[in-house]
Amino acid sequence: SPKVSREIWTEGAFAESFPVLPGSAHKGTRGKGLIVGGGRMMPGALMMAARASIRAGAGLTTAATVRDIIPYLTPSLPEAMFAGTGESSGVISSVDPEVLEGKDAVAVGVGMGREPESRPVIEMLLSRTSGPLLIDADGLYHLRFLLDDLKKRQEVTVLTPHFGEMAHLTGEEVSEVKRNPFSLSRSLAYEYGVYLVLKGPNTIITTPEGSQIIEPSGNEGLSKGGSGDVLTGVLLTMLMQHESPVKALANGCFLHGRTAELLISKNRTVLDLLPTDLTDGLSLTYRTFL
Ligand code: APR
Ligand code: MG
Repeated sequence: SPKVSREIWTEGAFAESFPVLPGSAHKGTRGKGLIVGGGRMMPGALMMAARASIRAGAGLTTAATVRDIIPYLTPSLPEAMFAGTGESSGVISSVDPEVLEGKDAVAVGVGMGREPESRPVIEMLLSRTSGPLLIDADGLYHLRFLLDDLKKRQEVTVLTPHFGEMAHLTGEEVSEVKRNPFSLSRSLAYEYGVYLVLKGPNTIITTPEGSQIIEPSGNEGLSKGGSGDVLTGVLLTMLMQHESPVKALANGCFLHGRTAELLISKNRTVLDLLPTDLTDGLSLTYRTFL
């Protein structure tokens, strides 16, 4: 049965385990990431995730989305590369597996929509992504129908649900997830061999073996649509730069939450804080230990 250990992630743990790259670091050492998502209705989610991944320090970030929105994203993502997806009326319906070549980690789901046409994309990524694969947002919705494929996958897989998405994934009521977040996380992570990031005011990170980390940073300024998309981008970069997936996830959550705290202590309030402020504020946290 899964072993039980629980730890609270602190600033000290972050500073100690954060991999500061050598001066000789290049694009390759910083990591090449792919984010699949967006679509005609939620291009902003993809934009925020890609921008956060770049700001967090990725070497190169490729955003894959429906072709006709790419020209609108380019001005806010000048550093990104783009890849067009197959689409059916504005919804992503396929991704060419060639896009995966040379990518160190992949994130999928932000702003993707829940149309069944997108399901084969998650299925393809589950079987063809050789590095870490992070599934968030609508990707988690599709995953509910692909649990066999999830079980078969051998490589590092990360799921980042909020309580509602966790309820949907496990088939439980949200109230049940709220009552038993630790044990439900542990059974899901163990059964499918995944790393789980159950998001909330106290985010719970669980390894496939059942060890758990509580990451308590952040504030209610984060409870706005888009904060999760920013987290996805940050986590993608962390996964490319850490040896240990669980430290990558804990440090990514810390970076996200601590930045929200520092922005509030400087010039924002929890009322007006925007997810995009978070992206541009990452340096506040980086500067505290660099
Ligand atoms: N304190 C600390 N952290 C918080 C708090 C809080 N009070 N509220 C939210 N957060 C953090 C979470 O830990 C997580 O990192 O903000 C992030 C929110 O992520 P998501 O819940 O994924 O939010 P997001 O996807 O941006 O927006 C919610 O999800 O169900 C859909 O359609 C729904 O638009 C909605 C979207
Ligand atoms: Mg979300």
